[in-house]
Amino acid sequence: MKKLVDAFKEFMRNVPQPVFVAIAKDTDGEVGGLTVSSFTSISLEPLLVMVAIDRNARSFIHFKYAVGWTVSLLGENQSLISGTFANPKIPMEERLSRVKLADSPNLAVPYIRDAVAFMECEPYDSFEAGDHFIFLGKVIHAEILTDAKPLIYYRKHYTTIKD
Ligand SMILES: Cc1cc2nc3c(=O)[nH]c(=O)nc-3n(C[C@H](O)[C@H](O)[C@H](O)COP(=O)(O)O)c2cc1C
Repeated sequence: MKKLVDAFKEFMRNVPQPVFVAIAKDTDGEVGGLTVSSFTSISLEPLLVMVAIDRNARSFIHFKYAVGWTVSLLGENQSLISGTFANPKIPMEERLSRVKLADSPNLAVPYIRDAVAFMECEPYDSFEAGDHFIFLGKVIHAEILTDAKPLIYYRKHYTTIKD
């Protein structure tokens, strides 16, 4: 089994993954966010996307009881932001205060103001998936913010794409 887990991890290390910060606001108005690469588009009719969130992540509870969430695509120069939002030692308030945030237009969920692009979603459905939960979001706003190249995580390093 260990061999298979290692092979699985090795496979995933070889998949280039765009890096996002996902931020949720819950029904109490509390906000939490983390670095994710599990974002993908799912459906055009209706417009659906998904993120997979670790049940042990501090933000999990905010996604579970979310009124809305945002996904910000980081740019090639934003690896520090990725590191901050993936560091369990940094308190959530400090994590959020280290970046420039703006509120999404419909639900006022924070997003990274100088990211490459962001989407705003309302909760659509969620499913248990092993040690993670899959959250489906209905897209209610999408916007390109800069023409920077995306931040990519590949073989445990940050990189970007060639033009
Ligand atoms: C490039 C990258 C991608 C990640 N993707 C995910 C992901 O899709 N889902 C997830 O739950 N955690 C993901 N993580 C890990 C979380 O960001 C990390 O565990 C974070 O500390 C969890 O938030 P917390 O510290 O508030 O608990 C990723 C980390 C990195 C560096």
